[in-house]
Amino acid sequence: AQELTILGLESSCDDTAAAVVRRSGDRGTILSNVVIGQDELHSAFGGVVPEIAARAHAEKIDLAVEAALDQADVALTDVDAIAVTAGPGLIGGVLAGVMCAKGLAAATGKPLVGVNHLAGHALTPRLTHGLRFPYLMLLVSGGHCLFLRVEGAEDFTRLGGTIDDAPGEAFDKVARLLGLPQPGGPAVEACANRVVGTISLPRPLLDRPGFDMSFSGLKTAVLRARDAIVAEHGGLPVALRADLCASFQAATRDVLAEKSRRALAAAPVTAFAVAGGVAANRTLRTALEAVATEAGMPFVAPPLALCTDNAAMIAWAGGERLATGQADDLTLAARPRWPL
Ligand code: KG4
Ligand code: ZN
Repeated sequence: AQELTILGLESSCDDTAAAVVRRSGDRGTILSNVVIGQDELHSAFGGVVPEIAARAHAEKIDLAVEAALDQADVALTDVDAIAVTAGPGLIGGVLAGVMCAKGLAAATGKPLVGVNHLAGHALTPRLTHGLRFPYLMLLVSGGHCLFLRVEGAEDFTRLGGTIDDAPGEAFDKVARLLGLPQPGGPAVEACANRVVGTISLPRPLLDRPGFDMSFSGLKTAVLRARDAIVAEHGGLPVALRADLCASFQAATRDVLAEKSRRALAAAPVTAFAVAGGVAANRTLRTALEAVATEAGMPFVAPPLALCTDNAAMIAWAGGERLATGQADDLTLAARPRWPL
């Protein structure tokens, strides 16, 4: 089988990342996977500040590339291609990555491959588990929530997704409402700590057919429940805070599980895969795994470091494009919006 060594770059949100992946036939090996986070730069603002992110990406991307090549023990002249996230994402960050990749491609004469960030997430189960097409992918992160039927390296069908907030965003907002630290997902999960939620919260859009979801009303319901508790108790007792976290987590779980059940029944697929930071949540993961088992399908969840933003997935997706004979040239554009 043809062997390809690909350098990947990712800078579309708040992680500056570079990785080297080797692709032999349908199998991938991660030779290095460097992620430089920006949490401490944004934490004081309660969210990612695009200008700060763009400057940090521009400052750190060369360092990330150097470290990735160094850790992989691969020289730039020995890579077969340079893959880069060309969108969707915060345009300043995407541009920093695309400019760096163009410089490397121009200097070495290696092919440049633009990758859709969502395709990177969606193809990760092939890198980690050698998963075959077609499979159903649920991508749940701070910025995304969608069901994709993945039929080929560039063949995705969007079945549905959130019509407002992504679940990770909802976890982060709920954490803020309850005085818990950021990122909110792990904080809410820890606070819920296997408590059974008793506070009644809505399951938005569950009564409607299809695969669309909504999480912003759920967050508002948590706000109202919190205010009612504070009015009654003159504060938020620790036990009730845990109850609220558990109740919110259960509502999110019920929505994601039921919509997944429907998507699996509707899509002719052979496996159910998840990706995105929210897929780290144990309550959600257990429920999604049960849905797959019930449908008689394998459940595939990449290791957490490959569920969240990284460049190994970009290198892999770039290799999948390259293997089908496709590449870009130095006119490759950075795209803030780029539906699959
Ligand atoms: O994929 P990711 O690292 O970044 C993007 O959004 O692209 O996902 C981050 C999101 C955050 O909103 C974070 O709160 C959420 O994933 N998250 C979790 C958990 N760990 C991270 N949500 C629920 N439970 C968790 N254990
Ligand atoms: Zn992402």
